[in-house]
Amino acid sequence: MDLGTLLIVDDEKHTRDGLRLSLEDEFDVYVAADIAGAKEVLKSENIDLMVTDLRLGSENGMDLIDHALALPQAPIAIMMTAYGSVNVAVEAMKRGAYHFVTKPLNIDELEMVIKRALRSRDVERENSALKQQVEKTYQIDNIIGKSAAMEAVFETVQQIAPSKATVLIEGEHGTGKELVAHAIHNLSGRPKAALTIVHCAGLSPQLLESELFGHEKGAFTGADKQRIGRFEAANGGTLFLDEIGEIDASTQVKLLRVLGERTIQRVGGNQDINVDVRVIAATNKQLEKLAAEGDFREDLYYRLKTIKITMPPLRDRKDDILPLSQKFVEDYAEENGKPVRELSGEALQALISYDWPGNVRELRSAIEHGVVMCNGPKITPRHLPPEIRLAYKPDGSGNGSGSLSQIALAPQDDFNLHRMEKRFIGLALEKTGNNITQAAKLLGISRRTLHRKLDDSAD
Ligand SMILES: Nc1ncnc2c1ncn2[C@@H]1O[C@H](COP(=O)(O)OP(=O)(O)OP(=O)(O)O)[C@@H](O)[C@H]1O
Ligand SMILES: [Mg+2]
Repeated sequence: MDLGTLLIVDDEKHTRDGLRLSLEDEFDVYVAADIAGAKEVLKSENIDLMVTDLRLGSENGMDLIDHALALPQAPIAIMMTAYGSVNVAVEAMKRGAYHFVTKPLNIDELEMVIKRALRSRDVERENSALKQQVEKTYQIDNIIGKSAAMEAVFETVQQIAPSKATVLIEGEHGTGKELVAHAIHNLSGRPKAALTIVHCAGLSPQLLESELFGHEKGAFTGADKQRIGRFEAANGGTLFLDEIGEIDASTQVKLLRVLGERTIQRVGGNQDINVDVRVIAATNKQLEKLAAEGDFREDLYYRLKTIKITMPPLRDRKDDILPLSQKFVEDYAEENGKPVRELSGEALQALISYDWPGNVRELRSAIEHGVVMCNGPKITPRHLPPEIRLAYKPDGSGNGSGSLSQIALAPQDDFNLHRMEKRFIGLALEKTGNNITQAAKLLGISRRTLHRKLDDSAD
């Protein structure tokens, strides 16, 4: 197994050999006896972590640490010393060493320190990579995103906003359909009247019709005065028909007519009234499927989907989780007067590995929960709602075998080691939404090894 590449520097041969022997099962281990030898290895190998003795014959391990940490690919440095004085430790840490251990060595302790160091660097790297990516976050109107999927949504929105074309927005609950409708309206250049919204679900067919088209006095029992419908009210602007999949057959016919002729008739009236309204419809159903099953008029579906925007579920665009979370942390910290600034690496990992059935709406409330539960600057997993905290299985110990058993091996798998490895890697990636760090953790190998295996299997 290969959790990382180590360089052990000690002038005593038995210490070098002893350490190599105890560590080489889990790490790639290089050794050197002096500074010159160590420099050679640092130059030719990609060393993740260096453990050096303070006393290297007449040389000083501190100088080696200075040299190593100044390299572009600086390893993590750990200092060993027989002279466990506080001064030496402080000095080593000041110069950027990660930790120091005293001789005689406790191998288990050293091994733990090494694993912890490598792991915290993995998380660190992952976060800084993610943070860099956040800088490339897109925002139009109030929609935040940086995934390729959202970038495509943004492009479409910008492209089609100025037109009058009817738009159909499909997507699961909480994916941002209403937000997109607002953005289209705001970017449309249509008069700055507010977006007119009609929730089509939950209204009886009669009420919905009169809500949309209005009615004349006496049109039905209870219609004691004339009423202007939403189409007329939205004249010159945009009408958002939410949950369009829920409307009844008779309203579907009327809607089809409005979209074709741009005229309406109030319920109980017979006068055609011209309306200049841009229609945006949204649904969490797949209208095409409803139409195929006869539950939605096919002609209306085609009319609505002149432009169709599909909002991908959050679990399919995990790149958006960090920028969204950061925005929500800011918002809720301010709203609650809390000093919370950011998410810890582990909290972020927990958010990334969660499945988000409620999509961005659920993420928003998870972050609100986190901010409210947290009193320090950083949200950690324990501040997150239980369903997210419990779904997250950190495996920082480097003990991959336990977590590997979470991956089920199908009985039809034959025992070809290479094929099984490929299958495990595939399963681990699938399970973690293609998150390399987490997949590597699940497999009990380093990120680097996983990358190498992926490169190999791509050949
Ligand atoms: N890309 C995004 N950027 C910022 N906030 C978002 C984004 N997507 C969704 N939200 C937020 O998530 C919540 C749900 O969004 P919205 O109401 O637009 O979803 P929806 O698809 O209309 O959901 P439903 O089908 O349940 O009506 C809102 O608080 C919204 O502000
Ligand atoms: Mg909605």
